[in-house]
Amino acid sequence: MSSETVASAPPLPYSRKNPFLAELIRHEHLTKPGSEKDTRHFVFSLQGSGLTYTPGDSLAVFGRNPPALVDTVIALAGFDADAPVTGPKGQTTFRESLLRDYTLNRANRKIIGGLAEIIPQGEQRNQLMEILDNGDVLNQYIHTRDYVDILSEFSEAKFESPEAFLAQLSPIVPRLYSIASALPAHPNEVHLCISIVRYETHGRSKTGLVTGFLADQAKLHAKNIPIYVQESRTFRLAANGATDIIMCGPGTGVAPYRAFLEQRILDGATGRHWLIFGEQHKATDFLYGDEWLDHQRKGNLHRLDVAFSRDQASKIYVQHRMREQAKELWTWLQNGAYFYVCGDAKRMAKDVHQALIEIAQTQGGLSPDAAAEYINVTLMKTEKRYLRDVY
Ligand SMILES: Cc1cc2nc3c(=O)[nH]c(=O)nc-3n(C[C@H](O)[C@H](O)[C@H](O)COP(=O)(O)OP(=O)(O)OC[C@H]3O[C@@H](n4cnc5c(N)ncnc54)[C@H](O)[C@@H]3O)c2cc1C
Ligand SMILES: NC(=O)c1ccc[n+]([C@@H]2O[C@H](COP(=O)([O-])OP(=O)(O)OC[C@H]3O[C@@H](n4cnc5c(N)ncnc54)[C@H](OP(=O)(O)O)[C@@H]3O)[C@@H](O)[C@H]2O)c1
Repeated sequence: MSSETVASAPPLPYSRKNPFLAELIRHEHLTKPGSEKDTRHFVFSLQGSGLTYTPGDSLAVFGRNPPALVDTVIALAGFDADAPVTGPKGQTTFRESLLRDYTLNRANRKIIGGLAEIIPQGEQRNQLMEILDNGDVLNQYIHTRDYVDILSEFSEAKFESPEAFLAQLSPIVPRLYSIASALPAHPNEVHLCISIVRYETHGRSKTGLVTGFLADQAKLHAKNIPIYVQESRTFRLAANGATDIIMCGPGTGVAPYRAFLEQRILDGATGRHWLIFGEQHKATDFLYGDEWLDHQRKGNLHRLDVAFSRDQASKIYVQHRMREQAKELWTWLQNGAYFYVCGDAKRMAKDVHQALIEIAQTQGGLSPDAAAEYINVTLMKTEKRYLRDVY
């Protein structure tokens, strides 16, 4: 075998353009009755795919639109469900293309322009032009509306053909989920921890495209869910098993740590493991709680800090636990520990980042600038042991 053959990793067999049609083999509730969240555990079979993954990778999943939503869109668009159309995947029916090929739960800007071209003069047209003429108003308008909201509101607009309507829509795109299993611990399986998105706007209940599909539509044991593995270039376990790792992951951010811990145990890693988890209520939302407690009892999870935000009058978040444990956390970092953060990018990851900078000041005696430099540059870029997977 030539050295060139050894050096180049084989390409992954499945991709966005050519996904594997996987069988959903388990679907379980992680949150308990009474929770304000709906977080679930899904397992897909990889049998026969040749797909592999490494802790830190994500799985891309395609969904289908809810049939009831599609049928309402068809009725509003005013075309025959069985009308033949040429969709992105070739010849099919109007209904099948709407089920499979286009995003329906979030409207795009294009449709408003499309409606402006076909709506007759009158009150609806004036209202539409007011929205179209102001970018901020347009963004605000489409932010909470789907095509049912929009087609109901501008009912005088009539598209020329089913294809003219489809041309205004955006293609369906997959969603990524942090893989929550280590492959050698679950051969031929990939596990996900998914928070189901449900909300109500303009008097109608709505779901996220992929989370709604998995929760409400995906049939156990049907081999038809398109998936592929999205490799992570950066969110990886420390190469040296003797390195300590600190894993900060509130909510579904805990998912990759289930994979990390499974892998480190199988590898016989001698480094210590510290999990900092947060959710709303201990009684209903301690995701994989029994597994973490079991790992702790067996001596595989050396520290477990939990922040149940709504179990007391004032909020307690993961960064509060970090500050409480600042001395210990700094000692681990000074000892070479990796620090991982996964989950919400908008608020949590920023607050955790700030808490790390504060800890470098209070425990490391660094000035505010030196502390920021240490976290942002030394830990994150030079030593690459502060790793993030945030969304
Ligand atoms: C690298 C990566 C890893 C990820 N890992 C995970 C994971 O492990 N687990 C997990 O659960 N998610 C994870 N996500 C998020 C996931 O990819 C999806 O974004 C999420 O599941 C929502 O997808 P969806 O198709 O159900 O919803 P979408 O169809 O994308 O709808 C979500 C949208 O709905 C709208 N919306 C939501 N709530 C409201 C509201 N109250 N009012 C009005 N509009 C609203 C918003 O526009 C929001 O952007 C990850 C993302 C990335 C990038
Ligand atoms: N891109 C998308 O379309 C999309 C869709 C779904 C989810 N997401 C992201 O995925 C994230 C994960 O969702 P999730 O349901 O698993 O959990 P989550 O919403 O992140 O909540 C987990 C825990 O974090 C707490 N929290 C809230 N603000 C925080 C902060 N600033 N710092 C630290 N902790 C904080 C929550 O407390 P409280 O609730 O009590 O405040 C809760 O206890 C979401 O926050 C969202 O950003 C993205």
